[in-house]
Amino acid sequence: MQQISVIGSGTMGNGIAHVFAQYGFQVSLVDTDAGALERALVTIAGNLDRQSGAGVITGAAKQAILDRISLHASLGPGVREADLVVEAITENEEVKLRAFRQLDQLAPQHAILATNTSSISITHIAAATQRPDKVVGMHFMNPVPVMKLVEVIRGKATAGSTMQTVVALARQLDKVPVEVNDTPGFVANRVLMPMINEAIFALHEGVATAESIDTVMKLGMAHPMGPLQLADFIGLDVCLSILNVLHEGFGTPKYAPCPLLVDLVAAGKLGKKTGSGFYNY
Ligand SMILES: NC(=O)c1ccc[n+]([C@@H]2O[C@H](COP(=O)([O-])OP(=O)(O)OC[C@H]3O[C@@H](n4cnc5c(N)ncnc54)[C@H](O)[C@@H]3O)[C@@H](O)[C@H]2O)c1
Repeated sequence: MQQISVIGSGTMGNGIAHVFAQYGFQVSLVDTDAGALERALVTIAGNLDRQSGAGVITGAAKQAILDRISLHASLGPGVREADLVVEAITENEEVKLRAFRQLDQLAPQHAILATNTSSISITHIAAATQRPDKVVGMHFMNPVPVMKLVEVIRGKATAGSTMQTVVALARQLDKVPVEVNDTPGFVANRVLMPMINEAIFALHEGVATAESIDTVMKLGMAHPMGPLQLADFIGLDVCLSILNVLHEGFGTPKYAPCPLLVDLVAAGKLGKKTGSGFYNY
């Protein structure tokens, strides 16, 4: 495993590229939006500065890490030499299926195709390819350079050797891999999203202000960040997509997204990345 292609350079893709490059891998970062690629490089450089200031990396390491990342505006050149592809594009099943059909055509036969999806079926994504045994979930947490967990998700057709390779790779990145089976939302979002949704309902029903709800959860439950602020950091569009997958996947109203979340997304208030959500940034 030497050459990693990361598809999508948004909130998650830039962090995934950063971490692989930090641990010595060559990274091709691919995004169809040239502006997103430029923003990703600025974000990575800023986060490396922070790590350098905190003594996590040396000042000299920063340039070497940046030099290991190449930027690509199209999939073909971006995945031609990949040993592993990590897809981190929009959380939409149709969009991901289309991307995996293309990746299957363009990436080398031996390459593992991993998805950073928060909730979409690994088994469905794998079925869009001719190599379902090499398709796996590699679910990093936000912010990727900081958070230790990687959920490694076994689709129905994922080979044991693919799981072992990805688990070992996560450890090489100084992360802690946890293996889970393929059901909607896996473990992380099946547990987290109902809590976030309930906090949004509490706000919607006027139980308390956003600040008060977050303070209750921070000081009362020792959460480092309140659920509404966390939703802003994840992206409200991403939260809505995950809740829709849980709602449709399990077929129970308990996961139905709060109307306030639906409205905020419709209004383009997606959280930190657009400057406003439950808070202003
Ligand atoms: N945001 C989070 O906290 C978080 C956490 C864990 C997992 N995830 C998952 O990671 C994935 C990415 O989420 P994000 O928050 O980084 O999204 P984002 O909207 O910040 O970034 C997505 C990027 O993908 C690009 N893109 C879209 N279609 C593309 C294509 N076909 N080819 C190349 N690039 C394409 C877009 O231009 C954009 O830059 C989603 O599946 C999401 O569920 C998100």
